Amino acid sequence: MDGGIALIGSGSATPTQILTNAQLGQRVETSDSWIVSRTGIAERRISAPEESLVMLSHKAASSALEMAGWAPSSIDLVLLATSTPDDLFGSAPQVQANLGATKAVAFDLTAACSGFLFALITAAQYLRNGTMRRALVIGADQLTKWVDWDDRRSCVLFGDGAGAVALESSDFQDDGLIDFKLKSDGNRGDCLNLNQFGESLQLIDGISHQKGGFRPIEMNGQEVYKFAVREVPALLGELLKANKISSKSLDWLLLHQANQRILDAVADRFDIPHEKVLSNLANYGNTSAATIPLMLDEAVRDGRVKKGDLLATSGFGAGLSWGAALLRWQGPS
Ligand code: UT7
Repeated sequence: MDGGIALIGSGSATPTQILTNAQLGQRVETSDSWIVSRTGIAERRISAPEESLVMLSHKAASSALEMAGWAPSSIDLVLLATSTPDDLFGSAPQVQANLGATKAVAFDLTAACSGFLFALITAAQYLRNGTMRRALVIGADQLTKWVDWDDRRSCVLFGDGAGAVALESSDFQDDGLIDFKLKSDGNRGDCLNLNQFGESLQLIDGISHQKGGFRPIEMNGQEVYKFAVREVPALLGELLKANKISSKSLDWLLLHQANQRILDAVADRFDIPHEKVLSNLANYGNTSAATIPLMLDEAVRDGRVKKGDLLATSGFGAGLSWGAALLRWQGPS
């Protein structure tokens, strides 16, 4: 039988610049009360021009390594979930080099706001089947580079950040990944996009090529909202049922931080008291692939999430993509 995995360390990093709702009101017609009541967001972090995705990822990964107490040279895999790499060829190798994780293979994985969960499950497969022993999974995004700051229906939601988790192979009896399910539906992909320009240029007579570049984020908020409140409880419900776990025995609900109303709706569906719903939306907004590890790290460091705690987690977003997992936090020994 394959082995298990243990979640040993966590880390996170956010840019220092803070943009409050009131400040955003200087740019678009909106108000603090509208944004707070519709999303739960009060402020978000915006990367300064000199703050790169690699820098944020490196900081988050370093503190996860430090918590785990691991030497960088002992890492086998650096998996970076991001939709906003500094380099479209991949930013993970730069993070690997900066960490001094000389033995590790490093690559990017793109699944928008579901990216961290998809990456966690991907890394877990290498650890379970015995080909690797230690992995760093990073979720990092700088969506503020790609937001249309004149579109008040979307610009209020997003912020930048990074989070990371240190994973190790373990005995199957101590498996920290109790179960998971991942889903995609490209047929519904047009409600949240960061699409190419599609500009065609003539190279020579008779041959044209596409010029690279991307348009800002386009989002149909209502459709994404409906998708999230329908699919997330359905998938979590399937997982709980399949594993005969009652929602009452969950210590924490750790959802992708997209909108407080989505978090509350999912919690209500399972009668999970709101004190068990982890949320830092007010401070960071939606940091895409970073939300889950950023939230986890905060709750681990302030002592809310303790050794042995059972967490139900779910990521969801563009693709469309979504997934859920039941996790047990191990922490450093
Ligand atoms: O990782 C996944 C990422 N995406 C999401 O999670 C998005 C999920 N969707 C949502 O969170 C919500 O749909 C939003 C927060 C984006 C929007 O909330 P809503 O309750 O669905 O608002 P709405 O789009 O139905 O708009 C209601 C009204 C409209 O005015 P009218 O047409 O009723 O007069 C909008 O023009 O609110 C207006 N509005 C705003 N007003 C002030 C939309 N954005 C704003 C704004 N400030 N920022």
